[in-house]
Amino acid sequence: MAKNQAAYVCQSCGASYGRWVGRCEACGEWNSIVEELRPAATPGGLKGRSASRRIAFSGLAEAGDEPPRRASGLAEFDRVTGGGLVPGSAVLIGGDPGVGKSTLLLQVLASLTGQGARAAYISGEEAVAQIRLRARRLGLSDAPVALAVATSVRDILATLDTPEAPDVVVIDSIQTMYLDNLDSAPGTVAQVRGSAQELVRLAKARGFTLLLVGHVTKEGMIAGPKVLEHMVDAVLAFEGERGHQFRVLRANKNRFGPTDEIGVFEMTDGGLSEVANPSALFLSHRQADTAGAAVFAGIEGTRPVLVEVQALVSPSPFGTPRRSVVGWDSARLAMVLAVLEARCGLSLAGRDVYLNVAGGLRVSEPGADLAVAAALISASCDRPVPDDSVVFGEVGLGGEIRAVSQTNLRLKEAEKLGFRRAFLPPMKRRGAPGPSIGLTEVTHLQDLLRQLSPTQDEPVRAVPH
Ligand code: TYD
Ligand code: MG
Repeated sequence: MAKNQAAYVCQSCGASYGRWVGRCEACGEWNSIVEELRPAATPGGLKGRSASRRIAFSGLAEAGDEPPRRASGLAEFDRVTGGGLVPGSAVLIGGDPGVGKSTLLLQVLASLTGQGARAAYISGEEAVAQIRLRARRLGLSDAPVALAVATSVRDILATLDTPEAPDVVVIDSIQTMYLDNLDSAPGTVAQVRGSAQELVRLAKARGFTLLLVGHVTKEGMIAGPKVLEHMVDAVLAFEGERGHQFRVLRANKNRFGPTDEIGVFEMTDGGLSEVANPSALFLSHRQADTAGAAVFAGIEGTRPVLVEVQALVSPSPFGTPRRSVVGWDSARLAMVLAVLEARCGLSLAGRDVYLNVAGGLRVSEPGADLAVAAALISASCDRPVPDDSVVFGEVGLGGEIRAVSQTNLRLKEAEKLGFRRAFLPPMKRRGAPGPSIGLTEVTHLQDLLRQLSPTQDEPVRAVPH
């Protein structure tokens, strides 16, 4: 008979070791290994065949149509979920503590009840009075959302395992839930994984949509939602910089919808309000004629989004100059800097470089390269990029500018917001009348340098490419 044994489990990724180690070899996290009791293995394996049943196979065509969806009525939330919540599915919503997950989900539930759905909100973190207070603040006190405070998964399962189960259930948060048949503490990998498994199984059996809240913390003591990602149908990340009012909901995995759509919200005194036109919001604090700023015309999912890329270049007091990036990839910045130096003779060695995507948005598109290059050139020559222009294009290692997708959509959005000029990769024109915006095609990074700093002509010519 196998006995309960101790195992050392990484609280960040779930990797298990026979002894304690300081650093998890699987995910590289330090001090994330915690001793947990391993449940006894199934005695005797699967030898006896008496209890087994044959499984039935069916064809692909019988799988049916699109799964029916339940739209919440919050357009930005529905956009990210792919048109609404799918019954019987499980969705994990991760985010830093305090970003607004509880607020968002309370608003989603209230909106769903407005469409006739039955919704339950089960909190393991806050008292009923606190949740009521939030509902009052959001003006949702009258919404018929069933509210409960519970942390025992056994109790929750017993309550929800009825034909009258609600249509949508929120568990806030999965890290506070515990199964009493496991010895480890709530928040450990074993508990988080076990609780989620039970809840997801019930959601599939009863056909309700399960929304799990998961805190993402860098500290190893609370299990990261990473261990749940394969168990759920969709993983949404709720992001936002502290001190910014913008919040971005992003799908990282979605079995029932796209994964590149974002929903943009603004945190106000009365809760999260939807931002239908993110570009206008992201550009709202822009200062005219500042050196080191360029407006990037990007695409997030199916939607064009204009954001300002800001760069600051200053003499470095250190031997190794600083490269600091917020909202973009630092490896990509290193590449653009290297191309500027090697192909255009614009050296920023010995100078600190700070790059920031204004408004707290995270840009991952390679099409932002040219906008970053424009901001860097502008900052280093102290000449503003023309105020009424947008920039987009991918930079290759040879300094060549590559085409990006959805050019017309980007230009239309820029035009709508009053921009008159665009720096972009060479376009293949096919006679179709383009938008009435002045186009400056850039084939090489040197062209951009020449456009933005005509006085820098000498060093440009000096370096062959
Ligand atoms: P909350 O939803 O509790 O975050 P999470 O569940 O992700 O931990 O939101 C916390 C923050 O949101 C808190 O700092 C206060 C702010 N907030 C507002 O600014 N306006 C509001 O209407 C509400 C309800 C919260
Ligand atoms: Mg919360």
